Amino acid sequence: MLIQSALLALGATAVAALKPLTVKDNNFVDESGNRFQIVGVAYQPGGSAAYDPLLNKDPLSHKDTCLRDAALLQILGVNAIRVYNLNPNVNHDECASIFNAAGMYMLLDVNSPFPGESLTDFNPWESYYDTYLNRTFAVVEAFKDYPNTLAFFSGNEVISNVNTTEFVPRYVRAVTRDLKNYVAKHASRPIPVGYSAADVRTALFDSFNYFQCSIEGEDDDMSRADLFALNSYSWCGDSSFEQSSYDKLVQGLSDNSVPVFFSEYGCNQVKPRIFTEVGTIYGPEMTGVFSGGIVYEYSQEENDFGLVNISSDGTVDLLSDFYAFQSQLAKLDFTTLEGSKPAGSAPKPPVCSSKLITTPKFDNNFTLPVEPPNVQGYIDNGIKPVPSGKLVDISDFTVSLAVRNSDGSVLTNLAVKQLDGPNQPGSNKASSTPWLGWYGQLWLDEARIYISVTLREILDNYAPNIPRLRLIISQDDPWL
Ligand SMILES: *[C@@H]1O[C@H](CO)[C@@H](O)[C@H](O)[C@H]1NC(C)=O
Ligand SMILES: *[C@@H]1O[C@H](CO)[C@@H](O)[C@H](O)[C@H]1NC(C)=O
Ligand SMILES: *[C@@H]1O[C@H](CO)[C@@H](O)[C@H](O)[C@H]1NC(C)=O
Ligand SMILES: *[C@@H]1O[C@H](CO)[C@@H](O)[C@H](O)[C@H]1NC(C)=O
Repeated sequence: MLIQSALLALGATAVAALKPLTVKDNNFVDESGNRFQIVGVAYQPGGSAAYDPLLNKDPLSHKDTCLRDAALLQILGVNAIRVYNLNPNVNHDECASIFNAAGMYMLLDVNSPFPGESLTDFNPWESYYDTYLNRTFAVVEAFKDYPNTLAFFSGNEVISNVNTTEFVPRYVRAVTRDLKNYVAKHASRPIPVGYSAADVRTALFDSFNYFQCSIEGEDDDMSRADLFALNSYSWCGDSSFEQSSYDKLVQGLSDNSVPVFFSEYGCNQVKPRIFTEVGTIYGPEMTGVFSGGIVYEYSQEENDFGLVNISSDGTVDLLSDFYAFQSQLAKLDFTTLEGSKPAGSAPKPPVCSSKLITTPKFDNNFTLPVEPPNVQGYIDNGIKPVPSGKLVDISDFTVSLAVRNSDGSVLTNLAVKQLDGPNQPGSNKASSTPWLGWYGQLWLDEARIYISVTLREILDNYAPNIPRLRLIISQDDPWL
């Protein structure tokens, strides 16, 4: 008891904190200049229904579920989550602190699918107005003070087909500019802002160049994206670098002046998923251009991409995709992936020009829409009322909700391990494979039976007349 409370006290005093990452040329780097690669999972339990602007909830607003999921994501071996639909007005302090202690960075979408909370792909000028931008700034305010906030996505798949390429790019670039201006004025550190593209190959490389180019040819162009991300599902089943056309992605994105990564991957056309792309994404064919990726997605929803299945009572069942992804991550050499300085020098940003654009119809106008009325005022003075966030002490990292392996056995000793750096596979060893879980439980049961039976024999032999003490090894121990 004494030891336990001493440990608890220790845990309560130290808020373990990840150090903020920054963008240097085309890499994410840590404080010592070492490269960071994103090993992430999309985190939107409950799907889009988990967020409702009228209800005070979103995926990062409930301590118990965040503890459960941060522990499981540690066991899985990832170091980042992407969260899509956030309510800037709810309190995220506990969840952000839990994911921070778990060694996980957060990539956050400032938009949501609700009307007025994102740019529309049709007539984008109709959705580019002050209250929409105010919402995006509110998300920045709510998350800018957490050290593990890694990036903000200024848009997600707004360029969704060839019809949307004519006008949307300049609006996405304008939103990126407005967000960057807001971050520069109100955040205490430079938090990168960039676009998350759909992998529509006819528009992808033009989008990349449209967003990474610099209008004046300067690195500090405020409308230039700090990163470029893409949602790509072209590797299905046991594919290869060429067959998946990942080779074409590397080729088309290779003159990247900013970090490039998958903001979603994990095709589910072939099931169960085996995630053989992991070895390639973090291997020599890709790491020269890509800074990792984010698997879609943590929880099982209607579209059937889940690594885990969350029941309505908050308990979780691990699915086969969880073990498959975990075993691929376990093969990676994180020391090489994360522990070294970026090699070589990065390409300079290209100067924006219609010559960069290769597809007819794709926007080649770099005269961006001006800020809607009121928006410069928000940027200059901050929005009001202003949401805020800060790390808080978490006194107990134990997971209270049950998690079951795919064979039904319950994971034992489940808790978030406090780390002082990014999470890596093996950091949290709560029994995580069905095999270990099952045998572990069996071993415990056998040990208990053995001790109980031995004790009973001793008592029978040497102290038959002494009233039996019930030795409570477990509340319901039937053996004494
Ligand atoms: C701006 O955002 C804040 C925080 O969500 C909200 O309270 C406020 O009403 C918004 N203002 C406008 C003009 O939309
Ligand atoms: C593009 O627009 C044309 C004309 O409005 C329409 O017929 C076509 O279905 C659209 N294509 C897509 C992919 O939305
Ligand atoms: C997920 O859980 C629900 C009930 O909570 C169940 O109906 C469904 O079959 C489960 N799905 C999977 C893939 O295990
Ligand atoms: C370029 O776009 C701006 C607004 O974004 C518009 O005012 C201007 O007319 C456009 N230029 C051309 C040549 O279409």
